[in-house]
Amino acid sequence: MVRLAVLVSGGGSNLQALLDAGAAGELGARVALVLADRTCGALDRAAAAGVEYRLLDRCTLREGLSRAVGEALEEQRIDLVALAGWLSILEGDLVSRWEGRMLNIHPALLPKFGGKGMYGHRVHQAVIDSRETESGCTVHVVTSGVDEGPILAQAKVPVHPEDTPETLASRILIQEHRIYPRVVADTARQLPVRHRLS
Ligand code: GRF
Repeated sequence: MVRLAVLVSGGGSNLQALLDAGAAGELGARVALVLADRTCGALDRAAAAGVEYRLLDRCTLREGLSRAVGEALEEQRIDLVALAGWLSILEGDLVSRWEGRMLNIHPALLPKFGGKGMYGHRVHQAVIDSRETESGCTVHVVTSGVDEGPILAQAKVPVHPEDTPETLASRILIQEHRIYPRVVADTARQLPVRHRLS
């Protein structure tokens, strides 16, 4: 079974979608490790699911965060990594070592509304301010350019004139929970056999 690590910083609704898909046998992978860079609701979800989790505090670790992440992934014999609301920028060496085996979900239709500083409600506010008529979410491969890696899947939603960042975010989250487990399952299926550890 592919061993999946999920990296989180927030409420963890995408983590929950991955846990649920795993429990339903639809993920082709098992969530074997959850890493958080701050105290957050996602850690409670990991604990409730009985999954191994670790808090790697970004304020304490500072420049050592990426290294600590890399060590935890190796230690737990992780095959595939899913960033799910993870907010810290991972250093290039770790990213290149995991190239093709690290995914991210972004709450907009990349390449629009991505990059440094484009996270959380800032993304949705920018979409509303630009009077876009549609937004959505994107799953992509993580590369050294923030939100720039190859796109694997997108889902669209309409933007309504009365939308606030909150209403738009919740409409998009529904689609995130639908596409992320599917892309993880597809990627897990295509991983070279050497990465599939028991
Ligand atoms: C999601 O909108 C995700 O696209 C973004 O951060 C949010 C995380 O939400 N990267 P959750 O913690 O999974 O609920």
